[in-house]
Amino acid sequence: MRTGGNGVLGDYRASDGNGLTRTYEDMVRTAFKPDWWNASTAVTINGKSYSQLEANFSLVFPLAVQLYEATLVSDKAPFDKYAEGNRNALTKQQQKGMDIFNGKGHCSNCHTGPAFSSAAMQLNNNPNERLVREFMGNDQLAVHDKGFYNIGVTRTQDDLGIGGTDPFGKPLSFSRLAQSLGSAGFASQACSTV
Ligand code: HEC
Repeated sequence: MRTGGNGVLGDYRASDGNGLTRTYEDMVRTAFKPDWWNASTAVTINGKSYSQLEANFSLVFPLAVQLYEATLVSDKAPFDKYAEGNRNALTKQQQKGMDIFNGKGHCSNCHTGPAFSSAAMQLNNNPNERLVREFMGNDQLAVHDKGFYNIGVTRTQDDLGIGGTDPFGKPLSFSRLAQSLGSAGFASQACSTV
């Protein structure tokens, strides 16, 4: 597998090393279907006029980044070799660290699976299982969205994440949605939006 941006964009690198030989506009036209950029009429947003390609840039840019990131596969780290069965790939000290990670550190409660993240849904046995009911660090039973934890890295108000609402005022979190709709309402709503 080719790795990283150099492999993907290397061919378009300007000879002086600065930037690319192609414009974003050019690459968007090449990569995305015309429906997304070739309208002849302008699009007005907040009183300003844009071409369709400009107006859709905030849509196509993250899609491009997402597809690029999908090419970054980390599978040659010492841990990967160890997991494949090479018992010498990690030093004794690293193995001790891993034991703490999986044992008394409880890190693997959340950092689970090959991607070390319980939020990597496709890696779970049942990808359609969106809620989990379990005992939390305070020994209280809680139902929450699978894979997501507010661990207080930033102030909660600064980054609500799935604690926020969608443009229609509905909770982004499935557990909140379930609470607000009741289980029957939640079943119909959640299934119709998948
Ligand atoms: C309750 C769940 C939970 C537990 C337990 C947990 N983490 Fe995390 N960890 C997270 C979350 C969520 C993030 C992402 C935080 C963010 O970016 O907002 C994270 C981020 C990290 C990161 C940064 C990863 C990155 O890509 O930037 C490291 C390193 C990390 N945790 C190590 C540990 C270690 C070591 C332990 C055990 C001592 C541990 N974690 C226990 C949930 C947890």
